[in-house]
Formats: sequence, C-alpha cells, structure tokens
Amino acid sequence: MNNVTTPANLHIFDHPLIHHKLSYIRDRQTNTRDFRRLLSEIATLMTYEVCREFATVSAEVDTPLERTTVRRLAAPITLVPVLRAGLGMTRGVLELLPEARVGHIGIRRDESTALPIGYYTKLPADIAAGPVILVDPMLATGGSCAHAITLLREAKCCDVRVVCLVAAPEGVARLTRDHPTVRIYAAALDRELDSNKYIRPGLGDAGDRCYGTG
Ligand code: PRP
Ligand code: URA
Repeated sequence: MNNVTTPANLHIFDHPLIHHKLSYIRDRQTNTRDFRRLLSEIATLMTYEVCREFATVSAEVDTPLERTTVRRLAAPITLVPVLRAGLGMTRGVLELLPEARVGHIGIRRDESTALPIGYYTKLPADIAAGPVILVDPMLATGGSCAHAITLLREAKCCDVRVVCLVAAPEGVARLTRDHPTVRIYAAALDRELDSNKYIRPGLGDAGDRCYGTG
C-alpha cells in the first residue's frame, strides 16, 4: 500500500479503495446496511497494514512432500472494539485474523460534557501476551480512546494499536500526550471538532449510523 505518515505515532492510509469506501460512508444518504458493510470492509483493508510489523517465529511443518521451515505470528493477537461503534469493525478485522481473541470495552460519551463514561470491560486474562488492536471508528476528543488505553495498560498491555476511521487533530494530540507509545491508524485525519465535539467534516454519529438509532 502507498501510505502517508504524519506525526510519528500516526499512520494515515492513502489507498484508493479506502478513499472510495470512505467517500460513501461519509455520505448522509448511505443507509445503515451499506454503512455497516463499508465500515467492515475498510476495517479489513486497514488490518492488513496494521499487522505489517507483528513479530513472527519460525516453525516446522510437514508439507505433503517434505519437512520445511515456515513463519507464524509470534504472539496471540487480541482485538478490542470500543462499544458500540467499534463492534462495527470487528467482523472486518476478524476476516484477516480469525484466530484473534476479542475483548470488549464499553464506553459512551456524556452528551453534555463529551467526557467518557466506562460501563463494561471484559478482556482475556492473558491479553498482555501479545499485541492489542483497539478499534473505534471515531477519534474525536480522544477521551474515550484514552480511557480504553488506560484500561489496557492496567491489564499490562504493552503493544496497543488504535485503529479508527476518522480522527480529529484534537484526538490525535490527546493520545499522543497521554499514551505516546501507542500507534494510531486512521483512514482520514479531518479538519477539527465543532462546538458539540463532533468531527468536521466527519460522518456524524458512528454508533447511530451503524445501528440505525439516530
Ligand atoms: C463515539 C465513538 C467513540 C467516541 C469518540 O461513541 O464511537 O467511542 O464517541 O469520541 P471522543 O473521542 O470524544 O471520546 P459514543 O460515545 O457516541 O457511544 P456509542 O458508540 O455507544 O454510540
Ligand atoms: N462520536 C461520533 O460518533 N462522531 C463524532 O463526530 C464524534 C464522536
């Protein structure tokens, strides 16, 4: 893939298929069914690149003809969607990582303060044994994601990668400050947050658009 890297911890995808699919997902005319499908498809495309630097180990297998040395992922991977909207990316990531374990973190933004409220956490006991892919389509103020990463840090996770669809500069700055070693992968870096802390131009409320609750 041909990618553009902005700050050191931020990776913005520059791929025609991702641009194409994102153009429809931003469109207010796109219905719930298509929104879900596109979100999942973009998640699959991004996963390919997110896994690029994962460590591998050598192993021996018997092909039908002879014994040979192969390479396999070195550590178990855990996918963690932030509820609700992150669930919309889960199937797309699992297309490429069907063996991944899936943890869940429930966080919602308070509508008046935009501050994160955590309401659910369920993670594999040995989550720290390998990389964690944290998925949430929207990185707005960064409060929800920063909260989720704090929970992952408390579970001793070292390698955390955040995968979102649309990031705001404010959210990137927040994560860079609070969790400087975390890599952020986004399909787009948008202009700004508005007075309601929504990303502009953005795509609206990702959870509502994903689940038809708007
Ligand atoms: C959305 C989104 C992120 C969060 C981003 O979730 O999916 O989790 O807002 O905003 P932030 O970066 O300012 O924290 P929301 O709170 O709407 O919950 P939902 O997915 O359950 O609708
Ligand atoms: N959450 C969303 O779903 N969209 C935004 O633009 C900001 C937060």
